[in-house]
Amino acid sequence: MAERVFCIDLGSAFTKVSLRQDPGADSRLLTLATASGGEASFCFPTVVAVDRRGAKPAVSIGEKAADMQAGSGVEVYRNWKKWLFATPQASGRSHQSPLEALLESDELRQLADKFGVANGQIHYLQQLVVVARSLISGPGGRVVSAESQQHANAPLLTGHYLLALRQYVLEACNRLPATGLRYEAIPVRISVPAFALPTDADPHPACKILTDALQKAGWPLHPDRPIVAEPYSNAIGILTKATNILKRTSLDLGGMFSKGPVISVLKDPTHYPSYRALVMDVGAYTTDFAAVELKPGGDATANPDVGFSVRQQSVPLGISDLDTAIEAALPKEKSELLRRLKAIDWDDFRKAVYTDRKGVKHPTGVVIGGPSDEGAVSDTLSRFAGQLVAKVVTFCEELAPTGLQELILTGGGAFIPSIRDALIQAAQAGGQSYSKTHAPALKKTAGAPPVVKLDEAFTRGGSALGGTSIYFEKEYY
Ligand SMILES: Nc1ncnc2c1ncn2[C@@H]1O[C@H](COP(=O)(O)OP(=O)(O)OP(=O)(O)O)[C@@H](O)[C@H]1O
Ligand SMILES: [Mg+2]
Repeated sequence: MAERVFCIDLGSAFTKVSLRQDPGADSRLLTLATASGGEASFCFPTVVAVDRRGAKPAVSIGEKAADMQAGSGVEVYRNWKKWLFATPQASGRSHQSPLEALLESDELRQLADKFGVANGQIHYLQQLVVVARSLISGPGGRVVSAESQQHANAPLLTGHYLLALRQYVLEACNRLPATGLRYEAIPVRISVPAFALPTDADPHPACKILTDALQKAGWPLHPDRPIVAEPYSNAIGILTKATNILKRTSLDLGGMFSKGPVISVLKDPTHYPSYRALVMDVGAYTTDFAAVELKPGGDATANPDVGFSVRQQSVPLGISDLDTAIEAALPKEKSELLRRLKAIDWDDFRKAVYTDRKGVKHPTGVVIGGPSDEGAVSDTLSRFAGQLVAKVVTFCEELAPTGLQELILTGGGAFIPSIRDALIQAAQAGGQSYSKTHAPALKKTAGAPPVVKLDEAFTRGGSALGGTSIYFEKEYY
């Protein structure tokens, strides 16, 4: 049990950190950035820059790193989360040595099973070989494939990032109204894609890398639940509206969920015998699905595993894949300019080109994504939406076709109108229907079910907020 807790949602594009400073205090997002780049002040770029121009390499993270131009002694790393979670064999087999091929073969896995060697240990062995090769050949050496290099870098970048993030978080806490709390002693929880959720039998190696890096950086881990899945925590953050309510010393689930859309069932179980929400989050690396059900007759004020059931999935398809596709679709000169764009300018590019469907003017005077690129942009957007739709349909088909009360769309990708519309449409697959849709920047349409406009904090910060919910502290039940 933790009376107070931080939750880090290490997003591939932006990290969000939430704090619950008392058992019954509302969860709040910490202001880590200056918001000068047009992003919300709780969205802190998951970017690491290494400046090798001085006597010693200087590492920076966040906004400062996002504003740095890569090249001439400066390395800028973004979107490295996927390399932390992807297994080496998923990233291609080009430039593989026979030893790497052996380490990644099914035969070795079968042998490992026979001898009782855990999957995680094989993964470490693979990483060891990758790191050893990069040490021998040096950065950019021909022996090392780009993918292997990315795999080898990801744990190092994670370490640098979480170490420096702690300072930003503690400074943000010190700017809060005085509480007398020792923020350094408050434990932390981190959210991960659902496919990486550790099971007792086989913890995902990335979870161990993350918890080790957190501890090394001085973060005390939450004593019994240091890791939570992103879809689950996002759903809880949104459905409780980040409230934490106690009745004397026990959790008041009814009160917590009464601000969110669950209220109809809790207040009037005769007319609303069951409740279900589908939450879809389009992130930079993954798109997350969570179907949260309040079971009929379940006692919502007791153990949540009695009252609630959650089906969740994270698929590795997100806005960073759309970025890669747009780079490939544009004329060579423009894609070259895009490839060299600073992380901070990419954020402006996405808003302008994907959401507002306007071009952006590069300092060289070239307009990227404007009228002359309209065909390439709209084709790329619709192809990407089509890929996402296929994932939504698969997830929805596996749900029982009883009416779902609410559809909730979150993540930066939910701001992009063509993607949002395609997802809302796809969520009706298999005859699902919704009495209400919650999403950012939604407009009401006559004759359609009611819509609720989600604000930026819940669109982007749901996983961090939910990760600090007292809902996850079993001792309060
Ligand atoms: N208004 C907008 N229009 C277009 N794109 C946007 C908008 N707002 C945010 N984005 C982009 O949406 C993407 C996803 O943002 P989000 O913060 O949800 O990702 P994340 O949490 O970092 O990723 P993940 O959860 O997959 O690790 C980012 O690349 C961000 O730049
Ligand atoms: Mg996210």
